[in-house]
Amino acid sequence: MARNARPRGTARLGTLRFSVSIVPADSFREDVIAGLSLPQKSLPPKCFYDANGSRLFEAICRLKEYYPTRAEIALTRAHLGAIVRFAGPRSTLIEYGSGESVKSPLLIEALRPAAYIPVDISNDALRKAAAKLHRRFRWLDVLAVHGDFSRPLKLPMAQARGRRVVYFPGSTIGNLTPDEAQTFLRMTRKQVGARSAMLVGVDLKKDANVLHAAYNDAKGVTAAFNLNLLARINRELRGDFKLRRFRHYAFYNAALGRIEMHLVSLVRQSVKVGKHRFSFDTGESIHTENSYKYSIDGFRALAASAGFKGEKVWLDPKGLFSLHGLVAA
Ligand code: TRP
Repeated sequence: MARNARPRGTARLGTLRFSVSIVPADSFREDVIAGLSLPQKSLPPKCFYDANGSRLFEAICRLKEYYPTRAEIALTRAHLGAIVRFAGPRSTLIEYGSGESVKSPLLIEALRPAAYIPVDISNDALRKAAAKLHRRFRWLDVLAVHGDFSRPLKLPMAQARGRRVVYFPGSTIGNLTPDEAQTFLRMTRKQVGARSAMLVGVDLKKDANVLHAAYNDAKGVTAAFNLNLLARINRELRGDFKLRRFRHYAFYNAALGRIEMHLVSLVRQSVKVGKHRFSFDTGESIHTENSYKYSIDGFRALAASAGFKGEKVWLDPKGLFSLHGLVAA
């Protein structure tokens, strides 16, 4: 390749590549039909992220009530040196659920990894973010993967160099049940190998009023994000959901340590999705997301059960959010 033929001493230019690791349209249909057929109707959170959903999610991250994004950025800034020392130089940085890659530039700038592999379910968000990072960090290989990290993934590891560092911010791990999180961590450990490390952003347990506000913002952006799921089903799967007949409902389930998000049917009704029909009672809900909150020790125990040792943990100044540095035990 011409780029490799550059004389020594000339700054090498990074490449921008895309690969696909899923057939998204098919899995969305299957997930929806299967989820709406359950006794407690429920849909996996990855279904939120079409182009519109990714945009609404970025708006959530800027809300004054939604503290996790600001807290995680603050803690990353405050502890950047220690985080970089933990991750090590010239590594390959793999980010699951990268979305619009809001936090990674901070890390990329300080860490200067050999390659960055963002993985996201939303092709639009991924392409936009990868192109932007490629323009900003000309030296960096950006190897974007359109994929679903809840399943085994094909990552472009042939081009990856150095230690593999998996970056999983945003408390996305909290959107999995503890069992699913354990399975995911085990799978990741196998995939990236024993010498690898993980940086996992985990939201902490706190006053339920603070949690409640974060998922019930005054402007209704979270409600719009939740309801967009029904609009997406209408658009992509020939559904006939009437959005005004459903309401966003989110609450903290203290016994299970999680925020639950639902779409509640306001009336008794029947809805078509393609050739399938689903009926709703008044008050019946579709459970659309969980967001588990952990204590520091609670998350360490979960990581340990999946073969990781919690080597480091960093917090923001207000103690709202944590970033765990894990290594294979
Ligand atoms: N990982 C984020 C969280 O659990 C995802 C998220 C934030 C989210 N706000 C949301 C998902 C609102 C759905 C709706 O906090």
